[in-house]
Amino acid sequence: MRQPVIAANWKMYKNPAESVAFIREFLPLVEHLSGSDIVLFPTATSLASVCDAVAETRLMAGAQTMHWLSEGPYTGQTSPTMLTSIGATHVLLGHSERRLYANETYEHVNLKIKAACANHLIPVLCLGEMLSDRQEGYTADTLMAQMGAALANFPAERAHTLIVAYEPVWAIGTGSTATPEVANDTHGIIRRDLEKRFGREIADATRILYGGSVKPENVAEMMAQPEIDGALVGGASLDPHTFADIIRNAHPAS
Ligand code: 13P
Repeated sequence: MRQPVIAANWKMYKNPAESVAFIREFLPLVEHLSGSDIVLFPTATSLASVCDAVAETRLMAGAQTMHWLSEGPYTGQTSPTMLTSIGATHVLLGHSERRLYANETYEHVNLKIKAACANHLIPVLCLGEMLSDRQEGYTADTLMAQMGAALANFPAERAHTLIVAYEPVWAIGTGSTATPEVANDTHGIIRRDLEKRFGREIADATRILYGGSVKPENVAEMMAQPEIDGALVGGASLDPHTFADIIRNAHPAS
C-alpha cells in the first residue's frame, strides 16, 4: 500500500503572514483526515515561517527548488543544508515553470536530486510533456528522456525516498486536466521505467502524483485510478477551504 501524498505548490504567492494565516485556518479542517501525507511548498521567503507553523503538526513543508552545493558564491541560490536547517523535509525539482523560466535542465535536476538524498531531503521529481509531444505521440519518449537525465547514476539505495509528480505542461494552470485514464496510463509508463532502473519493489512503493488543474471536483476520479498516488496542486491549493476539500474528496471514506 502506498500512502498518498497531497501537496500544495504555492508558486510565487503568499508572504509569511499570509502563509501562517492559511495554516491556522487549514489545520483544523484536515486534522481528522488521516488518509494522506500533506506537504506545503511555499515561496522561499515564507518557508521558514511555514516550517515553524507546521512543526508538531501532521503537515510537512518543502522548497520549490534549491542548488546542489552546500554553500558558495552563487547569488540568489539556496542550499540543501540551508533548507534542512530550518526544518524543510521535501524539495520540488524540475517543475516545468523552473525549466521554462529559470533554465533549469534535467542535468541540473540530476545534481539536485543526488544532493537532496545526500542531505535527507525527500525529492519530488516533476516530469511532464508539452502538448506538441502528446499530439505527435512522443509522450513516453519525452518522459523517458526526462527520467534518464534526472536519475542518471542515482543511488539505488536512496530510491525509496523518491516521489515523482507527473504534470503534463498543457494541464498546468489551464483548467484542462488529463483524463483519469490518460493520467493513469502515463503513470504506468513512469512506474515501468522506475522498475527497470530500481527493481519491482521500489517501483511498487514509489508514490507518483498527478498535477495539472486538480480541483475538489476532479480529485476523487484521479485518486480512484490504481497508478495515481496523490496530487500536486497549484491554484486550488491557495485557499484553505478549497485545499481541505481536495484532501477530503481524495479519500471519500476518511
Ligand atoms: P495548477 O493546479 O494551478 O494547474 O498547477 C499545477 C502545478 O503546477 C503544481 O505544481
